[in-house]
Amino acid sequence: MDRIRIYGGQRLNGTIPISGAKNATLPLMIASLLTDKTLVLDNVPRLADVNLLQRILGNHGVDIMVSGKRSGETQYDGQTLHISAANVIDTTAPYELVSRMRASFWVVAPLVARMGEAKVSMPGGCAIGTRPVDLLIMALERLGVEIEIDRGYVIARAKSGLKGGEIKFPKVTVGGTHTALMAASLARGTTVIENAAREPEVTDVADCLNKMGAKITGAGTSRIVVEGVAKLGGAHHRVLPDRIETGTYAMAAAMAGGDVLLENARSELLQAALDVLVRAGVEITATNTGVRVKRNGSGLAPVEVTTSPFPGFPTDLQAQLMALMTRAKGTSHITETIFENRFMHVQELVRLGAHIQLDGECATIEGVSALKGAPVMATDLRASVSLVIAALAAEGETIVNRVYHLDRGFERLEDKLAACGAAIERLSG
Ligand code: EPZ
Repeated sequence: MDRIRIYGGQRLNGTIPISGAKNATLPLMIASLLTDKTLVLDNVPRLADVNLLQRILGNHGVDIMVSGKRSGETQYDGQTLHISAANVIDTTAPYELVSRMRASFWVVAPLVARMGEAKVSMPGGCAIGTRPVDLLIMALERLGVEIEIDRGYVIARAKSGLKGGEIKFPKVTVGGTHTALMAASLARGTTVIENAAREPEVTDVADCLNKMGAKITGAGTSRIVVEGVAKLGGAHHRVLPDRIETGTYAMAAAMAGGDVLLENARSELLQAALDVLVRAGVEITATNTGVRVKRNGSGLAPVEVTTSPFPGFPTDLQAQLMALMTRAKGTSHITETIFENRFMHVQELVRLGAHIQLDGECATIEGVSALKGAPVMATDLRASVSLVIAALAAEGETIVNRVYHLDRGFERLEDKLAACGAAIERLSG
């Protein structure tokens, strides 16, 4: 199993290219099931989760061709996928696959909308919380889908097609909104989605669906209206830049000090997080090529942050901010409101010398003057990368174990940081 070794104390200077967003790529790939025509996706990140979803979709008969390298292309340029679901051979998504990646549960919506049936394993719990799918099921039922739960599987049927309806989410759910959008696009009549997720990845998926012939208005607001169409066609779409990767490297630069350009990043996709960094004393400048992050000399100020759905501070950056605040001059409070168990990084940060107290959903972080390197591991993607951030400022050697979590969502993390001067390397095996 690969590990990552980091020697802390190096400043970061240079350019980090930001890849396409994982959390847009996954639903976009799944949306290919809505049509028998080819969907071409550009700027697709090279990630373990993308490869795994490729295999999962392959199980349904989806054919995915990856374009070869173009001349002048760098190793960081995203790949282009040509995805064809012309021949869906199986509408069942088995437990062995869905349990490895929760987002693959989302195939239920396009399969039932286009094929009239789907049998998809319930994903089960995961490291960051219970993560139920009741609201996704509710959304499908509102569109006339009959749902049966049998032996761990959700069996969805709509033999005479889906009917538009009103879907009012009692809480904001990204997966629920993706599900509603995909299903409503092929439903007869109008669907209104209230309290929809406003995350940029939802807007990106809606944009792509519209290119495929869907009639969606209001994406990016909490009320989305979908006029169903009988058929969707192919499209060519470029995945938007990854705001969580952007925020992660912004915090890495803030932690290590230095001056880094996050190339291709779009500041408006993570304004709440950038505002927090400014409050902490980090210099942030939006340029026409990306976002520049600078911290020289001065210490970090503590912050008070509560995670919330977009446009609030994202839960997917909570662990990274906590790592950063371990070195602030004073006491910070971070409250996690989205997932009940997303503090798995706390005990590992404590192993590096952090002072963190947990009280329910609130973490109190007392900044320390030094962290000390140690072997650490984490049980999810964002928690793992928070340990990398802490290690950048820790004295001596830190070994981050279970690197496969990082590979799920960060493309060539160690190369991107090493190119800016970090003493970081992958140890294979
Ligand atoms: C998406 O997960 C992201 N995953 C997550 O990113 C992200 O943390 C999350 O949205 C919140 O922003 C992808 O896009 C692939 P939700 P999702 O439905 O859609 C509750 C990462 O690290 N809920 O918005 O599964 C749920 O338990 C990952 O990249 C229900 O109660 O999240 C949570 O408390 C991890 N019932 C809240 O809603 C449901 O049926 C928000 O979850 C569905 C959700």
